Amino acid sequence: MSQIVVESLTKVFRIAERRAGLRGALAGLVRRRNREVRALDGVCFQVGRGELVGYIGPNGAGKSTTVKVLSGILVPTSGTCEVDGRIPWRDRRAHVRNLGVVFGQRTQLWWDLPVVESFELLRDLYAIPADRFRAVGDELTRRLDLGGLLNVPVRQLSLGQRMRCDLAAALLHEPGVLFLDEPTIGLDAASKLAMREVVRTINREQGVTVILTTHDMDDIESLCQRVLVVAEGKILCDGSLASLRRTVSSERHLIVDLAEGISWNGLDGLPAREVEVAGGRVRLGFDPENVAAAELIGRLTARYPVRDLLVENPPIEEVIAKLYAGGKA
Ligand SMILES: Nc1ncnc2c1ncn2[C@@H]1O[C@H](COP(=O)(O)OP(=O)(O)OP(=O)(O)O)[C@@H](O)[C@H]1O
Ligand SMILES: [Mg+2]
Repeated sequence: MSQIVVESLTKVFRIAERRAGLRGALAGLVRRRNREVRALDGVCFQVGRGELVGYIGPNGAGKSTTVKVLSGILVPTSGTCEVDGRIPWRDRRAHVRNLGVVFGQRTQLWWDLPVVESFELLRDLYAIPADRFRAVGDELTRRLDLGGLLNVPVRQLSLGQRMRCDLAAALLHEPGVLFLDEPTIGLDAASKLAMREVVRTINREQGVTVILTTHDMDDIESLCQRVLVVAEGKILCDGSLASLRRTVSSERHLIVDLAEGISWNGLDGLPAREVEVAGGRVRLGFDPENVAAAELIGRLTARYPVRDLLVENPPIEEVIAKLYAGGKA
């Protein structure tokens, strides 16, 4: 049975718009026009216990809105969702007891307090037993390298330092469900790796269910077995990264470094397309259903002396960009 069930979730924001040019008393007399933004438009999905699901989509697609509804912060306009049989915005107390949330854009920590004091407040808030607090706190401090940060007020932390502390704070009460909304935004390579490692570990070793929103395709590639793509408030596709690739195109790339002094004279009947020719390097696209990589390489090397060859999938960014573009059409 699914742990998270989302059915026909709709969220409409109504924004009061002031008419331009009207000020003062007159503005009050004119009826305000309301503009509607349909942030979620019938979102449906289910997530099983222990899954790690990527939730991706272009800016304004409705990702953060979904996370806020699932966290109980926002009440949807219509539709339902349940996490462990509980409705987030109705059973908030019980819901947050088993939930950790990180919003990369906003800290959950107390701005003026040293990190350790925020952690202690959370301990009291969640009634975490002293021994668990110590054990989990020590483990997270080690994994996220927080040793030097615990006594620093949150306001003095850099973005990457703060985000690592935020992740630790979200995990102190050992939740079974974790929502991460752009947890690696603006982080350097080392901080990103540390964050990913912790997320991977708590998912694999402790079976924590994770929904991860990100624009960083390396996050997705390194962590998620399953990806949900949302665009304009609707789920566009749901599947593995490999199946998303196939949805867009099955094309693979063959990168050829020609031998010294050899120049490229075109495909000349090779079953491929030229993606890019730059100096002695040629990038060819081919459909593996149409021609096997080995056969293409054989036919190519019969014609051109080559120095090096590499077969790869098109960059995931390219696949995702095509997917988003297709969804709008
Ligand atoms: N509180 C709000 N009031 C009015 N409109 C809102 C509010 N929150 C979000 N929206 C609108 O709802 C839509 C979805 O926003 P949301 O923040 O969920 O997008 P997102 O997928 O998280 O985008 P991003 O990748 O930029 O973070 C956008 O059009 C946004 O302007
Ligand atoms: Mg967002």
